[in-house]
Amino acid sequence: APSSIVPVTVNGTTTDVETQEGAPALYLMRDVLGVTGPKYGCGVGVCGACTSHKDGEAFRPCVTSVGDCAGSDITTIEGLAAEGELHPVQQAWIDEDVAQCGFCQPGQIMTAVALIAANPDPSDADIDAAMSDNVCRCGTYPRIRKAIKRAAA
Ligand code: FES
Repeated sequence: APSSIVPVTVNGTTTDVETQEGAPALYLMRDVLGVTGPKYGCGVGVCGACTSHKDGEAFRPCVTSVGDCAGSDITTIEGLAAEGELHPVQQAWIDEDVAQCGFCQPGQIMTAVALIAANPDPSDADIDAAMSDNVCRCGTYPRIRKAIKRAAA
């Protein structure tokens, strides 16, 4: 596939990266830039482990090409506490002791942050709808819901 050089901004740092057409942004983030908060779960956009933000919207970098991220502002879990202070959602996750194995949690948190940004007072149904495509094999869903309610309160 043809390659090109595109500027990609991850957590406020812009890098000119060489990319092959269609190469996934998750590969760039994890393997090239060393930003490993976004996890490789399914690689086909269905588990949510890689969820990050692109221009403030939740997206799945395993099924988004580097080229589609050119010129966009990407934020990963590493960028949430950029000022050194935990995001309220991160603090709520600690307070509710959400994580079990933890693998899916960066994606869960990034989805939750996008939810609360769009809907500051989500109902249980809103939370379940927004979070339903983020899979947790440990079944931490009840604690995820409590943490989102705490962060939104
Ligand atoms: Fe991206 Fe599963 S790894 S959605």
